[in-house]
Amino acid sequence: MRAGPVYDSVGTPVMKKTVQQIIPLLVSCLLAACGGDDSTAFQNGLNNSAASSLPLRQAADRANFNWGAAATVLREDALGNPAYDAALAGNFNMTTAENELKLPFLRAPDGTYNFEPADRIADFARAHGMKMHGHVLVWREDLTPWLGENPTREDGIAFMRDHISTVLGHYRDNYPDVFTQWDVVNEAYRSDGTLRASGWQQVIGDDFIELAFQFADEAWPELTLFYNDFYELNFNFFGSLLDAGGNPDPDAIRPGAGPNVALSTCETSLKCLAVQAMAEDFVARSVPMDAVGFQAHIPNAFAPDYATFAEWVGPLGLEWIITELDAPCPNDDSANESCFNTQADIFRAVVQACVDDPACATVVQWGVADGYSWWPGLSAGSFGRPLALDFDFNYKPAANAVLEVLQGR
Ligand code: XIL
Repeated sequence: MRAGPVYDSVGTPVMKKTVQQIIPLLVSCLLAACGGDDSTAFQNGLNNSAASSLPLRQAADRANFNWGAAATVLREDALGNPAYDAALAGNFNMTTAENELKLPFLRAPDGTYNFEPADRIADFARAHGMKMHGHVLVWREDLTPWLGENPTREDGIAFMRDHISTVLGHYRDNYPDVFTQWDVVNEAYRSDGTLRASGWQQVIGDDFIELAFQFADEAWPELTLFYNDFYELNFNFFGSLLDAGGNPDPDAIRPGAGPNVALSTCETSLKCLAVQAMAEDFVARSVPMDAVGFQAHIPNAFAPDYATFAEWVGPLGLEWIITELDAPCPNDDSANESCFNTQADIFRAVVQACVDDPACATVVQWGVADGYSWWPGLSAGSFGRPLALDFDFNYKPAANAVLEVLQGR
């Protein structure tokens, strides 16, 4: 059985990953000469070597806060490009793999694994004293390529156990100093609070979620294990993209659908209520789930108020984090100035909500800089520029907003 967070005398949670957090912090502090100010670096990440610590990273390290960015090696101009590397290592103390740890990228239908792309990200993280958030073991995969037609529940369970133990075993044995946490199950629920008909759910049944947590705990007991999902009601492009296989999400299936309301408490979202009920049940039955990830893809001004939306998590003895923050703007130069200010307000509020809650210690943005975002691809080019760093890796208003929050911590 897992214990929830332990609270110290001033109410700060002493998470089980504390020692894992401190060692990389010391390493990055040594690499960065413990945070000398560099005003040139503040203007432009390109002027700095990959080991230089820029203001955002210095502020995150000093605040003992995990400020991360999803990285990728699947584009030639991403990891390995000196400007990208400098921006990633200079501004963030945590990273994750945007796609490289997902089942279809790791495991061929013949059962062989290719860890090389994800290992390159883990090697980079280690070299720069960064921690990693693993993403993801069980998503919406159609399992036919691995299990063929009509697999039994037992086939599905054996496959899940093998996949989870192979992936976590590789990183437990080779990168125990890098990974602190992992998304075990992602996006299991529809907006109406019912379970999606994913391949895993269809082959195994509704208990696929708790089985995944049990197998992950069995493979790597020290890891903080997450259930991850998105809640923004207007996330329409997302729904139509990921539910294209005939698995509709009523609130998210077409552009314009869904009410324009900000999510304030968990009660404003049937999906959130379903996840909360699952978490309460898992805590009561000691299913080894430790934490809840809120993706935070926010394609409009109606940003959820995470201070209240996630307030139920800490009292359950669980952690929460923001796993995939981005807030896209229309791809229209004339709209950018005001959109970038709204975006900065969103980033400020989201990071502040996490900083203010002892149960939250991590915010990860979904990409290193605007040139690497998934949004243009998702929206046929209509939306983009959703991140804190611009196309040239310079700070946008959102970066300065995050900096202010971290410096005020
Ligand atoms: C996205 C990647 O950014 C894209 O490159 C890929 O084509 C699809 O997946 N929720 C998640 C992430 O949990 O894994 C998704 O990442 C974005 C939404």
